[in-house]
Amino acid sequence: MANSKLFLVILITFGVIVPSLVAHIAEFDGYWRRRAEESLENTHNLYHPEPEKVTAEVNKAVVQSLKEVSSNTTARRLLGSIRKNRPCEATNPIDKCWRCDPKWADNRKRLADCGIGFGKNATGGKHGEFYVVTDDSDDTMNPKIGTLRHAVTQKRPLWIIFQRDMVIRLVQELIMESDKTIDARGTRVYITGGAGLTLQFIRNVIIHGLRINNIGVGSGGLIRDSEEHFGLRTQSDGDGISIFGSQNIWIDHVSMKKCFDGIIDVIEGSTAITISNGHFTDHNEVMLFGAHDNSTIDEKMQITLAFNHFGKRLVQRMPRCRFGYVHIVNNDYTHWNMYAIGGSSHPTIISQGNRFVASNDAFTKEVTKREAVESVWKNWDWVSEDNLFVNGAYFVPSGDQDWSRKHPQISDGVKSGKGIEASILTKYSGALRCIVGKPC
Ligand SMILES: *[C@@H]1O[C@H](CO)[C@@H](O)[C@H](O)[C@H]1NC(C)=O
Ligand SMILES: *[C@@H]1O[C@H](CO)[C@@H](O)[C@H](O)[C@H]1NC(C)=O
Ligand SMILES: *[C@@H]1O[C@H](CO)[C@@H](O)[C@H](O)[C@H]1NC(C)=O
Repeated sequence: MANSKLFLVILITFGVIVPSLVAHIAEFDGYWRRRAEESLENTHNLYHPEPEKVTAEVNKAVVQSLKEVSSNTTARRLLGSIRKNRPCEATNPIDKCWRCDPKWADNRKRLADCGIGFGKNATGGKHGEFYVVTDDSDDTMNPKIGTLRHAVTQKRPLWIIFQRDMVIRLVQELIMESDKTIDARGTRVYITGGAGLTLQFIRNVIIHGLRINNIGVGSGGLIRDSEEHFGLRTQSDGDGISIFGSQNIWIDHVSMKKCFDGIIDVIEGSTAITISNGHFTDHNEVMLFGAHDNSTIDEKMQITLAFNHFGKRLVQRMPRCRFGYVHIVNNDYTHWNMYAIGGSSHPTIISQGNRFVASNDAFTKEVTKREAVESVWKNWDWVSEDNLFVNGAYFVPSGDQDWSRKHPQISDGVKSGKGIEASILTKYSGALRCIVGKPC
């Protein structure tokens, strides 16, 4: 009797400890186990079997908006001397969808219809009420009503906005529930000097307009992760945004720098994700997509990286990928100190219409880096189309370079926006300064 009980204890202890080491959950209780199982199901269900359809749709939208930009630019030139107020300029299809509407603040949920790429279906808190954050304080176990932590741990869908400009120092990682939009438009909201955001085993989140910097390691301890649950956590990594086993995520117009670990990490079965219009600076390991060469669930990872500006004092991992399918389109890479795009475990990388500006250092001209021997990586599909290479930058392609010709029925001959246009498409990257009542 006593023996079998002991055996049971040992069994449970093992079951508890193994996943927890990876997930930073010190007590992998029934609650987290259920969430992990649901997450795995979502990963499989949300995998898009024809990713070229998604890349072609993005490219089509970009080409269309570029046409409008150039006709508006001509119109503006003609009007320039007559009108003082320049018409609003939105240079990419996401921004075009909402930014020039002077009533954007009365119509905030419109943003949820503006996504593109693999994270397009993220609706965040569109079907919920507004929640106004009024209090910049943080309490990890008993968050006060009106704080960001109180908002993101609610079970129901919420569209979270801010009453005023705020500087929020998170005492521990901010563990979010599903179906949330964090919308900082019209206010300047800094998440700084503390821990970062954690999206773990959740679905359907939009994060827009946050300024996230100087993020450190959270010590761990008891943290509330839902209005109905809290638990013991180990140290957090010190990522700005950590996406772990989560799906339907859209991160738009964030300004991020100086995080202890990654700026944005996407790992362990996360998929259906778009990261767009971001401005990233001052960081070493920028984005990790897939954490381990043995996490084969990341075969299902599909990510769109569009209209981001990878800027000053960045070093590497923009992104570093394992497995998965990553569409890297119309980004502006102006700084890297080791490499820009790298990976292991045969990820598929479709790099289209980016601008890559190399530094003057002769040893960092290469955009790409692979952790494998050539006889292995030569079969990985790393496609480079319509990119602009400046100052000796070069991309080493591999695998099937007939990629776009192989999918003519899907891609319909659609070409991406060109690398030379990347600086126009990313012109307004980072958190915007929107004023209520005016086009943003
Ligand atoms: C071009 O101008 C029109 C009229 O002002 C506006 O509705 C449209 O959003 C603009 N397009 C872009 C891409 O800026
Ligand atoms: C979004 O959802 C629709 C309807 O379920 C689906 O057909 C489409 O493939 C999804 N889009 C992406 C990019 O996953
Ligand atoms: C996967 O690899 C990581 C790092 O190499 C290691 O810590 C972990 O134990 C491995 N997991 C499994 C299930 O093999």
